[in-house]
Amino acid sequence: MLDATRAALCAIACMFLWLAGPAFAGGAEVFRAAGCAGCHQVTPPPAGFDLDGRLAEKGPNLWYAGSKYRPGWIARWLANPSPISGIRHDSHLPSTDLSPHPALGGEGGRAVAAYLESLTDSAMATGVVDTASPMPRMTSIQGRMLFGKEQQCFACHKTLTRYGVLVGGESGPTLANATERLNPDWILAFLMDQRRYVPVTRMPIYQGDTFTDYGDGQMRILARYIADMGKAAP
Ligand code: HEC
Ligand code: HEC
Repeated sequence: MLDATRAALCAIACMFLWLAGPAFAGGAEVFRAAGCAGCHQVTPPPAGFDLDGRLAEKGPNLWYAGSKYRPGWIARWLANPSPISGIRHDSHLPSTDLSPHPALGGEGGRAVAAYLESLTDSAMATGVVDTASPMPRMTSIQGRMLFGKEQQCFACHKTLTRYGVLVGGESGPTLANATERLNPDWILAFLMDQRRYVPVTRMPIYQGDTFTDYGDGQMRILARYIADMGKAAP
């Protein structure tokens, strides 16, 4: 009798804990409990060229996730993750041998996504790249020239052409879904100062002390072109 009562009480308590757990736990706790913290840092890495630190990273640093992604994208992607880049984060090997990214849907996924969206780069300029109106024809033509002719950005990035054809290499993250994934202002911030976000970057630097010095105006055109990927005028 006592055992039955105890079992019933336990069942009620367990049910309560189960309901209360993922639903009310903060996203930061779910982030740790679900093992995300084992592969993703959420604080900026030390500035400078820390190659060993970079090689020890199993997944991208998410300290600026709330500035990088468009609202809602993280939760949608986490519920059903698809590959973003074709090479492993911790080496130059193809990522085809990797197991798929862990999925996290439902309440837990939404809590983690809300937590990650709260991590922003407060120094990033916002309201700069305006995508509310259709891309001006001149921007679209110049963007295409800068992205595909002057530099071969598509050599490393999957890209959508103006005819909607998917082309491009895989050593960088796909830009074909940038209209859903990347915050236009962050694209510009990244192009203007790559090392702020990825101190040990695998992408050539196109602004500053290099052979190719794209100025602010050209970077704005590129950011707009990428933010509206696939919508370029014929
Ligand atoms: C075993 C290591 C590992 C674990 C565990 C892991 N991730 Fe990832 N994560 C990665 C890698 C590697 C990528 C890059 C995937 C790609 O390029 O296709 C990634 C990509 C991401 C991205 C997109 C990053 C970008 O720059 O586009 C987000 C957001 C993310 N992970 C969140 C999470 C969350 C939340 C969890 C916990 C539920 C988690 N990850 C668990 C390794 C991991
Ligand atoms: C040699 C390969 C390579 C070339 C060429 C290249 N990129 Fe990248 N790009 C990368 C890699 C790798 C990353 C991931 C971050 C890092 O390592 O810096 C990246 C990241 C990016 C991102 C951020 C995307 C994200 O999801 O993190 C943008 C935007 C971008 N590149 C635009 C460009 C543009 C514009 C050009 C041409 C002017 C270009 N890239 C040329 C390899 C390349």
